[in-house]
Amino acid sequence: MPVQVSEVPPEGVQPLRHRVLRPGLPFATAVWAGDQPPDSRHFAARTADGQVVGVASFYPQPTPLAPGELAWQLRGMAVEPALQGHGIGEAVLQGAIAALLASDPRRIVWCNARVSAIGFYERQGFAVLGEPFLVPNVAELHRFGLWRAPVA
Ligand SMILES: CC(C)(COP(=O)(O)OP(=O)(O)OC[C@H]1O[C@@H](n2cnc3c(N)ncnc32)[C@H](O)[C@@H]1OP(=O)(O)O)[C@@H](O)C(=O)NCCC(=O)NCCS
Repeated sequence: MPVQVSEVPPEGVQPLRHRVLRPGLPFATAVWAGDQPPDSRHFAARTADGQVVGVASFYPQPTPLAPGELAWQLRGMAVEPALQGHGIGEAVLQGAIAALLASDPRRIVWCNARVSAIGFYERQGFAVLGEPFLVPNVAELHRFGLWRAPVA
């Protein structure tokens, strides 16, 4: 499905983030500490009629594995449920990473990946590492995902 990926303020990602990742919980559970720029960067995929159908957010956080290296933590990766599996997640993640690499020295992206989404992250070039663990407000187990920009 054709979508346009662009950088947006946090208010541009929080409604879809809430519906997909915190369904049934108060909206406040989808408004995260550090959401406000300049500490964070947010990206949305929109359809031709302007509907936000995919979102991803990035926070400047070193990885637990390489605490001395600058890195982005990817959070809030979500696609409109009826449109999942049509390339929108890939479009928003690749569009966001391209924009981040072009504007910032960080070359590492990491995430806590839901076990059900691990295949998606692996398709995007993430290494999935370590034992499963839980994060607050989510029943599902997660694993650590790590992406490094290829050396030019
Ligand atoms: C995970 C998610 C963001 C992926 O976005 P999407 O638009 O559905 O995925 P895409 O269509 O871009 O898929 C890209 C590739 O990843 C694969 N893929 C997507 N989701 C997958 C999954 N859950 N398991 C395994 N592979 C998956 C696709 O088959 C596709 O592979 P291909 O290149 O061989 O065609 C989306 O399904 C989603 O929002 N899921 C619910 C919320 C969630 O789990 N978010 C992640 C939290 S860590």
